[in-house]
Amino acid sequence: MSQAMDLPATMTAIAITEPGGPMVLKPERRAVPRPGPGEILIRVRAAGVNRPDVLQRQGAYPPPPGASDLPGLEAAGEVAAVGEGVRRWRVGDRVTALTPGGGYAEFCLVHETNALPIPHGFTFTEAAAVPETFFTVWHNVFQRGALQSGESFLVHGGTSGIGTTAIQLAKAFGATVFATAGSAEKCEACTRLGADRAINYRDEDYVAAVKEATGGKGVDVILDMVGGDYIGRNYDSAAVDGRIVQIALLGGPKASADFSKLMIKRLTHTGSTLRPRTVEFKAGVAAELERKVWPLLSARKVAPVMDMIFPLREAWRAHERMQEGEHIGKIVLDVG
Ligand SMILES: NC(=O)c1ccc[n+]([C@@H]2O[C@H](COP(=O)([O-])OP(=O)(O)OC[C@H]3O[C@@H](n4cnc5c(N)ncnc54)[C@H](OP(=O)(O)O)[C@@H]3O)[C@@H](O)[C@H]2O)c1
Repeated sequence: MSQAMDLPATMTAIAITEPGGPMVLKPERRAVPRPGPGEILIRVRAAGVNRPDVLQRQGAYPPPPGASDLPGLEAAGEVAAVGEGVRRWRVGDRVTALTPGGGYAEFCLVHETNALPIPHGFTFTEAAAVPETFFTVWHNVFQRGALQSGESFLVHGGTSGIGTTAIQLAKAFGATVFATAGSAEKCEACTRLGADRAINYRDEDYVAAVKEATGGKGVDVILDMVGGDYIGRNYDSAAVDGRIVQIALLGGPKASADFSKLMIKRLTHTGSTLRPRTVEFKAGVAAELERKVWPLLSARKVAPVMDMIFPLREAWRAHERMQEGEHIGKIVLDVG
């Protein structure tokens, strides 16, 4: 370690004591980790809560090899120590970072290239609500899905952390935006965020709605977290040369679909998961985000939608909130 503030030996962290419901999340004393070469130690002030944390807690999404067993894929705070060879950051710098795990703690390690400066005027809780969804949306919608200005875009789960980010970024980069959500209140939130049309999938068939709104053409890019019977319906909703990007399968991993649509419309159906990707890959996404999206955040042209904030020790309540499914936007832990 080449530079550090006075570090305590131990910290409070939220552990997954066994696979199960929200109550298995319990505060524990853990050793404060020390940064290795290229790493920084963040004194965490706030940590974002994401659906993958819920899956990890349930035992369905184990951390990749080498990652902390603690939950938490994003954290904001001050740099508390820097490892050998760290070039960009100094002790005391305010950063927000995509972490491979371990965000639900007072201190968290991250590679220096996976941290970014806190956008101008952002609180720690707002900054902690940014990395996971912005990295995911940037990679899947703009890199894999190649969404262009003037094209049309459909996101399912429009009020999720991911959905609220996708609506704003697609709009900011010049797309016509459609979103699906499960209630009138959620649909209103989507349109407030910039969606041109929000579709309550409980009342309306989204395939017919997007077909009608696009004059029968269909949408150019779809970001889907549902899967199941949405797979065939996404093929129906897509335009010729459309791109469909799968980031989750909340409705089930198996489907029967009419694959002739893939050929006839020349569709691309792809997908990815962010967490197991290399530090270098994430550094590349971070660099593009800093260049293209950080100025929009600092100007408040886009911003995370804040749902509720819970104290770190009450992480179980944050997970209950997420599982109830009433939230709109991001749930965040205040680490103090
Ligand atoms: N591949 C990746 O790299 C990556 C990275 C981050 C997150 N993800 C995934 O992206 C999804 C969104 O993450 P998030 O943190 O933004 O989650 P979130 O805020 O909890 O959102 C989940 C959304 O999915 C909708 N939904 C539709 N069908 C559902 C079902 N069967 N069960 C539960 N929810 C359903 C819900 O809205 P309605 O009430 O409108 O249905 C809700 O808005 C999660 O599945 C997560 O695992 C993937």
